[in-house]
Amino acid sequence: MKISVIGCGYLGAVHAASMAELGHEVVGVDVDAAKVESLQRGAPPFHEPGFGELLGRTLASGRLTFSTDFADAAGSRVHFVCVGTPQKRGEYAADLRYVEAATEALLPVLASGDLVVGKSTVPVGTAARLAEMVEGKVPGALLAWNPEFLREGFAVQDTLHPDRLVYGLPAGADGDTARALLDEVYAQIVERGTPKVESDYATAEMVKTAANSFLATKISFINAMAELCEATGADVKLLADAIGYDDRIGRKFLNAGLGFGGGCLPKDIRAFMARAGELGADQALTFLKEVDNINMRRRIRMVELAREVCDGSLLGKRVAVLGAAFKPDSDDIRDSPALNVAAQLQLQGAVVRVTDPAAVENSRRQWPHLDYADSPEEAAEQADAVLVLTEWRQYRELDPQEFGKVVRSRRMLDGRNALDRDLWEAAGWTYRALGRRAT
Ligand code: UDX
Repeated sequence: MKISVIGCGYLGAVHAASMAELGHEVVGVDVDAAKVESLQRGAPPFHEPGFGELLGRTLASGRLTFSTDFADAAGSRVHFVCVGTPQKRGEYAADLRYVEAATEALLPVLASGDLVVGKSTVPVGTAARLAEMVEGKVPGALLAWNPEFLREGFAVQDTLHPDRLVYGLPAGADGDTARALLDEVYAQIVERGTPKVESDYATAEMVKTAANSFLATKISFINAMAELCEATGADVKLLADAIGYDDRIGRKFLNAGLGFGGGCLPKDIRAFMARAGELGADQALTFLKEVDNINMRRRIRMVELAREVCDGSLLGKRVAVLGAAFKPDSDDIRDSPALNVAAQLQLQGAVVRVTDPAAVENSRRQWPHLDYADSPEEAAEQADAVLVLTEWRQYRELDPQEFGKVVRSRRMLDGRNALDRDLWEAAGWTYRALGRRAT
């Protein structure tokens, strides 16, 4: 099938290449000429495991091209809208201007029988509005909402092997037409028996925001327990293991630490609250405000912990920050808890050196006043304290003995509860972590 993918960020670029991998003929369209040029050259404009190979393979097959010209989307049967919905400046609500602009730009190239498929995370009610726009301007064209649940770091795997498909469909016969087209697009995934949920637009839109809110709540729940553990001397990691054995609870997303960041969870729970307010249902989501508060408090607590470890003052202390990306295996620094803490430490007088296997370039652009190093050893040279704030494998596997040789004081703050405490303590390090007792 001929497919267009509008918006070639983390979501769209991976989706475009994945659709080509499934055998479709795909054009990825983006207004950012540099991004399009890079993708067309086979050079991923962001770090995502496995994406470089997938991109190279699908470009070489001739089934995948990229363009800045919407006209190139003409002739495609299905058009995926994968543009961003960032938080509005100074407000909780989502900024829908890119989704609206992308849909509008598609209108002149749409033909009767085409299907526009929204994948962006949007406030409930958006799809119905866009459907009116599409059907009003191009008789016979339809719209479906098909939220995407990919995690950065696993984007290729999650796109080609999703754990479920959600189709938000128009009512009646139009719904049957849209379903048939989506089933054709995802034929290999559907045939594998992947669970499929078909619903109205509103439910499909809400599935995504509800899922992200649940995940954020789970993380903040365990981080609230971490606060209590700090007050009582209990150990949050053991607590998470113990409650996680209950399969109604499950151990996933119960890693206490610096909390959630990134381009999705924080802004999605805020946009969800804003939308609930508009709908007169704000009480239903006031708990998300607390989820957000707990999450933000962890960043402040991390700075306090660093101050405690540095004998009560950060002034002039050399602090190494290991990790800048909001999570491992990504170079994404949007709302990164690690960089937030690094900046706070520096503003409070510490001499901070940040390192990250993939995100230094992005960090330097956004936080030029921080100091950067190419390796953990370089960052930690003569350090008074080392903070692991993103749990990259490279940092989890550091040798505490060898690494101890470069620092001034063996003080380790594990912001992600990711290190083997016993190993570090055995090598003479003071080990501190959120939600766990001091050595
Ligand atoms: C998330 C959703 O998981 C995904 O389904 C959706 O499509 C987009 O948003 P992503 O932002 O890539 O994906 O990252 P995710 O793996 O969910 O992690 C989000 C944040 O939570 C990270 O900062 C991570 O470090 C943090 N986290 C995760 C924890 O603090 N503890 C955990 O136990 C898990």
